[in-house]
Amino acid sequence: MKRILITGSTGLIGSRIVELLAEKYTFIPLLQSEVDITDHDTTARALNALSFDYLLHLAAYTNVDGAEQERELCRKINVDATANLLTQCKAKGARMIHISTDFVFDGKKKGVHGTELPIYTEASEPNPIAYYGQSKYEAEQAVKGEAMIVRLSYPYRKSFDAKRDFVRTIRYLLEQGKTLTMVQDSLITPTFIDDIVNGLDYLIQHYSTDIYHLVGAESITPYDAGKLIARTWHINEKLIQPVSYAEYFKGKALRPQWARIVSTKGITMQSFAEGLKCLNES
Ligand SMILES: NC(=O)c1ccc[n+]([C@@H]2O[C@H](COP(=O)([O-])OP(=O)(O)OC[C@H]3O[C@@H](n4cnc5c(N)ncnc54)[C@H](OP(=O)(O)O)[C@@H]3O)[C@@H](O)[C@H]2O)c1
Repeated sequence: MKRILITGSTGLIGSRIVELLAEKYTFIPLLQSEVDITDHDTTARALNALSFDYLLHLAAYTNVDGAEQERELCRKINVDATANLLTQCKAKGARMIHISTDFVFDGKKKGVHGTELPIYTEASEPNPIAYYGQSKYEAEQAVKGEAMIVRLSYPYRKSFDAKRDFVRTIRYLLEQGKTLTMVQDSLITPTFIDDIVNGLDYLIQHYSTDIYHLVGAESITPYDAGKLIARTWHINEKLIQPVSYAEYFKGKALRPQWARIVSTKGITMQSFAEGLKCLNES
């Protein structure tokens, strides 16, 4: 069985990877409580003492708004630690899979008149617009050509007590009877985490040091996503009110506005409607 050293195994996505693939691979979690990846010497000693075929690197500073205030910490975790992990992997002859994000893109309209909606493929040029995305892009540059880079977008899953993803956050607030304002002039590409896990399983078996997008089959406005969530759990969809991107993100870290992310490498995932159906089953 292949041995996979995994960082971020206690997080939203990492914990589901271990849950679903535990019978197929031997996972060796590198827990922050034992090894803080910003401590390069401790990390090097730990990796040196372990035997593994792949490093699946999910650990990150993931608070998009917090990153604006805590730039140094964000940089240490997302960029410097990633570069150090690659060095250790190379020394061990292990393959590295680095998890990244669609927030490396700017999400801006394109074309001569700036009216054309962008589509982001693996070949598109990143141009981050806030610090979290900037740090993840710098991490990509640190490992490019030497590790596989896998970008994810708006992941959601059925349950995970430690952290609510956007679907469970919206559902929770709606069930509390809260009125929510959701952006109407923007696109996101939600992705069912179980599909991400299947995609990663495939990529582990077809490893190359290329860039991949593991993203949902459909992009949708946050406003329509909110309505779909309300309908899925039979909640009054009138609780969702439209708001503009400019109004919603006033004073917050910017997210890419038109984040239509696609995979051009034959790895297809379910649409948001299909993913929500899976959450609602059993
Ligand atoms: N969630 C999203 O919306 C999203 C979207 C696109 C891409 N991604 C990418 O997917 C990956 C996983 O995201 P996630 O949402 O699953 O993350 P998460 O739930 O925020 O968990 C972060 C993980 O990183 C670990 N970690 C943080 N700092 C560390 C350090 N200094 N040393 C060792 N471990 C550390 C945490 O350990 P503790 O539990 O001990 O704190 C935790 O396991 C990240 O690379 C992220 O950039 C996420």
